[in-house]
Amino acid sequence: MGHRITEPQILEALSRVKDPDLGQDVVRLGFIKDLAIEGDQVSFTLQLTTPACPMRDLMTAQVREAALSVPGVKKVQVRTTARVPSCSHTQTHNPMPGVRNIVAITSGKGGVGKSTVAANLAVSLALCGARVGLMDTDFYGPSIPILLGSDTPPESVSETRIAPAEKYGIKVVSMAYFLPRDKAVIWRGPMLHRMIRQFSENVDWGELDYLIVDLPPGTGDVQLSLCQTIPVTGAVVVTTPQDLALTVAAKAISLFTELKIPILGIVENMSFYTCPHCGQRDDIFGHGGAERLCGEMSYPFLGAIPLSAEVREQSDRGQPAALRDETSSLAENYRRVARELAARISVVRIQGGTSSGPSTGTTS
Ligand SMILES: Nc1ncnc2c1ncn2[C@@H]1O[C@H](COP(=O)(O)OP(=O)(O)OP(=O)(O)O)[C@@H](O)[C@H]1O
Ligand SMILES: [Mg+2]
Repeated sequence: MGHRITEPQILEALSRVKDPDLGQDVVRLGFIKDLAIEGDQVSFTLQLTTPACPMRDLMTAQVREAALSVPGVKKVQVRTTARVPSCSHTQTHNPMPGVRNIVAITSGKGGVGKSTVAANLAVSLALCGARVGLMDTDFYGPSIPILLGSDTPPESVSETRIAPAEKYGIKVVSMAYFLPRDKAVIWRGPMLHRMIRQFSENVDWGELDYLIVDLPPGTGDVQLSLCQTIPVTGAVVVTTPQDLALTVAAKAISLFTELKIPILGIVENMSFYTCPHCGQRDDIFGHGGAERLCGEMSYPFLGAIPLSAEVREQSDRGQPAALRDETSSLAENYRRVARELAARISVVRIQGGTSSGPSTGTTS
């Protein structure tokens, strides 16, 4: 029999494994739980910051390898779990205490695919096992319930409170549930502000890892109200590759930066076109602009979504493309963006972000 294997030996070995996004080692980050040593067998739990972690497999392999490198260790059992970090702040007024992260989906101009991206990211995160909510703050043109094929409205739980609707495991609130169909609405600034408060304060969101907020186009009252009402973790900017759209995206970015909300990253939608017949890829609008913009302004590039008839067809059917199985490269594409987003959120949470101010409560 060799020497007895000790806990410090194992932890020392594991501390050589870094989380590539957070830049710190897994022991310091507190990711190693329930370490147990029995003879020549070691077991522990690797607790990641999101069930949608893009590095899950890589890090699991690395910690296993590290533990095996300790002399005498014959067998290593690694379990993985996830605990999504939330804001550590003690904000005097947080209307949604159970919601860990709030992600605003924004764009400078209309029709770039915000709502479609919002719905597909929500679906992707939920498929990873995260608890997800989707708040549709496009009060003039709410589209989320249509995209999700959800027509069962939220139920009242009391005189003033409602339980969100639920579809594909996602909790949903949208003005569409409360409006007569095909009726145009005119809301003024103060009314929009009141609606945001109602969607935040009077809805039983419960415990959520991610609340995705779909915004109306532009940089107006709703964006402002949202950031003043709830602690937004960060914004995702959706853009198309055309130069004009990129200039407009820069406007959306500067609004959130001014409000001291971190930019979690940029998604390039309708980016390239793959011919459904021959698979040939065509960069119709000159793909890559968003990635360049990210490079120039040092924002994370979360990924590109192709221009695809399947996106629209699935949306029209009320079944977001991200719901499809692994055989769909489109679904995999959305999942990749979702994992990248989840990683950026963890970074902002754990490192405090680069431009997080009082509204996210991460500075003191
Ligand atoms: N990747 C894509 N490929 C093809 N069509 C897409 C793609 N993404 C979105 N669309 C289509 O583009 C149209 C606009 O999308 P969407 O409603 O999501 O945009 P939006 O930015 O939310 O618009 P608005 O500013 O009006 O809220 C929809 O018909 C949608 O199906
Ligand atoms: Mg929309």
